[in-house]
Amino acid sequence: MDKLRIIGGHRLSGTIPISGAKNAALTLIPCALLTDEPLTLRNLPRLADIDGFQHLMTQFGVSVNIAGKRPEDFGRVVTFEATRLTNTVAPYDLVRKMRASILVLGPMLARAGEATVSLPGGCAIGNRPIDLHLKAMEALGAEIELAQGYVRAHCPDGGLPGGDFTFPVVSVGATENALMAAVLAKGPTRLSNAAREPEIVDLCNLLTAMGAEIEGVGGSDLTIHGVDRLNGATYKVMPDRIEAGSYACAAAITGGEVRLEGADGEEMGATNHALRNIGVEVEADKRGVTVRADGRLKAVKLSTAPYPGLATDMQAQLMALLCRAEGTSVLNETIFENRYMHVPELNRMGAHIETNGRTAIVHGVDQLTGAEVMATDLRASMSLVIAALAAQGETLVRRIYHLDRGYERLEEKLQLVGAEIERIGDD
Ligand code: EPU
Repeated sequence: MDKLRIIGGHRLSGTIPISGAKNAALTLIPCALLTDEPLTLRNLPRLADIDGFQHLMTQFGVSVNIAGKRPEDFGRVVTFEATRLTNTVAPYDLVRKMRASILVLGPMLARAGEATVSLPGGCAIGNRPIDLHLKAMEALGAEIELAQGYVRAHCPDGGLPGGDFTFPVVSVGATENALMAAVLAKGPTRLSNAAREPEIVDLCNLLTAMGAEIEGVGGSDLTIHGVDRLNGATYKVMPDRIEAGSYACAAAITGGEVRLEGADGEEMGATNHALRNIGVEVEADKRGVTVRADGRLKAVKLSTAPYPGLATDMQAQLMALLCRAEGTSVLNETIFENRYMHVPELNRMGAHIETNGRTAIVHGVDQLTGAEVMATDLRASMSLVIAALAAQGETLVRRIYHLDRGYERLEEKLQLVGAEIERIGDD
């Protein structure tokens, strides 16, 4: 298994191109199941999770054509065409590797009137049940049965009638599934307390481009008027606000100045607000975001929350940054119950962090030191990379397949701004 070798202490300076958003792409791709016409997605990041989802789509008889395959290209243009669905089963072997596979449930049910999707099983950051996805499908008129580790869903009268559902907890994935199921329903659907993350807006924009009728886009109450059929579309995936926020933390911890080309300052709102409170200068314009730090970082109190609150996907990276801040910071993780797996690894690098349930107390230290570390999930792994960039000496980050799931060409992008980082094969 590959590792990353990072020599800390280099001030980052220059420009990093921001890729298409992984979490938007993972909900835009299954929209191809909703139409027999081609769906072309531009700016799709080249990531293990996207490759995995493309493979999953082929299981249903969807053709996948990748253009722009030159190795130097960031992003891809990929056309998905589901002329006819040949299969409606998402098998355990694929779903267990990629939880986002559950996002085929809604569109498959809408188009084929049935879907069988493996239950995803456990996850490193929490229990992550899918009960809300299933309740939303039932509210729209689906019948659901759980058997042999699979969810079997079908529409008793051929198509979904549509219906009303109030999410008891804000869920990004369940909102996405409900939206994709509702667009082809026979009647209207009202979703209340829906997630309003920018990735949901991206999904609504694509569905609208395909001919869907959605009211309230960007808000937490959505009304969807089902239509008889959807057409194909060509659509550009939004920039990755979490990737951009991660590199902002990387720049800040080294006292550097980095331009995040293509990032959307508005979508990064809560992250940028947190960075400014930490003492980092953040300037956003129409084409990107520039981050500048002078080495002095202030302790802050942060709590994760659904959008427009601070993304849980930024918690680990901000924590790494706060390890070097003056004073004591307090972080509260409200979304996932087990998202502090990076804490013991950061402490092995000289950080001083204590956790108590969902709260982490970060006592700032003068110096982090390189170590051999590994993490159990994507954002946790990124927090170790950020700490390593400021640490004294060499850090080896193991299990970087987590990073390959969510950061397109991480080491190349960091090299662009002067980091000493290389990928080495395991001996
Ligand atoms: N939840 C339930 N029941 C459900 C669904 C969710 O109780 O049926 C709970 C979850 O356990 C969690 C909360 O609701 O406590 C929010 O989970 P949500 O459904 O919003 O998360 P998700 O859709 O599974 C997406 C991202 C995650 C990101 C979360 C929160 C994708 C593919 N994944 O997950 O991204 O952390 O939203 O913003 O979009 C990552 O990129 O590293 C990542 C984990």
